[in-house]
Amino acid sequence: MASLNKIAAEINKCKKCSLHEDRTNAVPGEGDPKADLLFIGEGPGKKEDELGRPFIGPAGKLLEELLGTIDLTRKDVFIANVVKCRPPGNRDPLPEEVEACWPYLQQQVNAINPKLIVLLGRHSLDRFLPNMKISTTRGKPMRREVENLGRYVFYPIYHPAAALHNPNNRQPLMEDFQRIPTVLKEVAKLPEKDAAEAEIEDDVDEPEEKQARLEL
Ligand code: URA
Ligand code: SF4
Repeated sequence: MASLNKIAAEINKCKKCSLHEDRTNAVPGEGDPKADLLFIGEGPGKKEDELGRPFIGPAGKLLEELLGTIDLTRKDVFIANVVKCRPPGNRDPLPEEVEACWPYLQQQVNAINPKLIVLLGRHSLDRFLPNMKISTTRGKPMRREVENLGRYVFYPIYHPAAALHNPNNRQPLMEDFQRIPTVLKEVAKLPEKDAAEAEIEDDVDEPEEKQARLEL
């Protein structure tokens, strides 16, 4: 399996899509290579492009604050993006750009093998779990099989930038973030796939609050 450094070296010289033309630096991602928690955003912004590091602008500041509320720093997790080069003017990445960059993200997920993949916002959600809405799936951990990745637990939440642009998204983002440690504990308790399904079904009479709410 490719190491994260090797993957990053490939990304830094990649020209597989036109986003390479305007980049100052590619932004492969960074953090603990053995992290339990992998955060996946959309793509680099201006500051990230300048320095080649993920989430170091305003959205990154909020992400760090949120991590602090659950006693973590960015060094305790891994932070990556769906596209590794900045879309000009911070436009949405195009489908062909997301697809061109997807193998790098797959390799990163496989190398890190996290317990929980936190999907930040709709672009990240859409690449892993297509046709789901962030407004209705946010805060719901889901164990799913993804092509060439195997089975992972995904936890979609609002993108920090969405909370900066729309104050109504702030509270839900905070609440979903606060649940991350609990979700991680639930994931750690999950037996193998078949047994896990049985266990969750046994739980259906529990009050909603207490249910694991892992949709398997
Ligand atoms: N927004 C993202 O989605 N990713 C970053 O790295 C920074 C801002
Ligand atoms: Fe390569 Fe991804 Fe950058 Fe496109 S966005 S040039 S696929 S690293």
